[in-house]
Amino acid sequence: MDRTNEESSGGVVRFVFPKWFNSLRDLAGIALVVTPLYIVVLYAYGNTPRTTDVGYAPKQPVAYSHALHVNELGIDCLYCHNTVDKTGHAAIPPTQTCMNCHTNIRAQSEKLLPIREAHASGLPVEWVKVHDLPDYAYFNHSAHVRRGIGCASCHGRVDKMEVVEQVERLSMGWCLDCHRNPERHLRPLDQITNMAYELTETEQLRVGQQLKEKYNINPSTDCSTCHR
Ligand code: HEC
Ligand code: HEC
Ligand code: HEC
Ligand code: HEC
Ligand code: HEC
Repeated sequence: MDRTNEESSGGVVRFVFPKWFNSLRDLAGIALVVTPLYIVVLYAYGNTPRTTDVGYAPKQPVAYSHALHVNELGIDCLYCHNTVDKTGHAAIPPTQTCMNCHTNIRAQSEKLLPIREAHASGLPVEWVKVHDLPDYAYFNHSAHVRRGIGCASCHGRVDKMEVVEQVERLSMGWCLDCHRNPERHLRPLDQITNMAYELTETEQLRVGQQLKEKYNINPSTDCSTCHR
């Protein structure tokens, strides 16, 4: 009998398997118990309305309007959300970004009082998060916007919103739908923040297919891509 194996099983003689097999078996045992539990927890969280709330548009501490700043004033998304093409997160702009203009423009406005207070105190404005995936799902902005998916494909016509509103379910099915057929959404990289960009369905499929081949775009559907 294999002595090492005998020791590891506390003196009880088992099969003639090398020692590592026992630890492997223990691991498999743990996985069998933990995996169903993990899936149950995922389901419980995945189905809470909070994560799939289309139309969720919380009141913000300042009545900041995208419609005014983007559509009427023509400020590009990247002027404020300046990390969206570089990192996973799309940063909400610091108070200083607002003050670049509002030190002079509407400097006495009542509506801008919380911005001036935050600027004076150095404390950030407490913006309420609109889009919020559960923690067990991994998302990355730059992986999308640098490969040709525009803001509007996931956030809708933000340039028409007085108050930001969630327009897509952000469910797993929604993610996978595009990962399986990205050509329906791909656009040239210089159109990423263009809210008005829109092609007819056949044009989109033709251009999308071209971009897909040209840049070798192949979104993964492996579980570990989004659950790590
Ligand atoms: C002048 C600065 C500015 C510009 C330009 C701007 N945003 Fe924003 N954005 C903000 C601020 C401030 C917030 C947080 C308050 C809010 O949700 O309204 C925000 C919030 C958002 C949110 C919601 C974030 C969340 O909590 O889930 C999205 C999505 C968004 N912006 C997309 C865009 C897009 C797309 C563009 C370009 C069409 C754009 N923004 C242009 C300042 C800006
Ligand atoms: C590039 C310049 C610019 C930047 C940056 C900018 N704004 Fe503005 N904002 C304006 C202009 C111009 C107006 C319109 C003023 C008018 O109606 O006469 C305005 C109007 C507003 C108003 C309405 C004020 C009122 O009294 O009606 C609010 C609120 C506001 N901005 C919030 C913000 C916030 C919050 C930020 C930072 C996230 C920001 N703005 C960044 C230029 C800017
Ligand atoms: C492929 C879909 C997709 C695209 C494209 C996309 N977003 Fe998002 N965005 C999301 C999701 C999903 C979240 C929620 C992320 C989370 O909760 O972790 C989000 C959150 C945000 C937030 C809140 C801060 C954050 O990172 O959680 C801002 C601001 C934002 N997006 C702006 C933009 C802008 C601006 C663009 C275009 C330059 C853009 N997004 C493109 C899906 C997308
Ligand atoms: C409208 C289309 C679209 C939607 C919606 C979308 N994706 Fe993607 N995703 C893509 C494309 C295109 C890529 C880039 C593939 C490539 O580079 O070959 C990508 C890449 C990714 C990557 C990067 C993988 C890596 O290699 O690092 C992650 C993570 C990801 N997506 C997660 C998500 C999640 C989570 C959601 C839903 C909340 C989502 N995506 C929704 C189109 C989309
Ligand atoms: C492209 C990204 C992506 C991929 C790939 C992906 N998921 Fe998900 N998954 C998500 C997102 C986002 C959620 C959260 C959905 C929500 O909040 O409603 C989620 C939620 C879940 C849930 C919770 C229940 C539900 O459906 O909402 C389970 C279970 C799950 N994923 C398992 C898997 C398994 C198993 C795989 C591989 C076969 C996988 N996922 C691949 C993005 C992904």
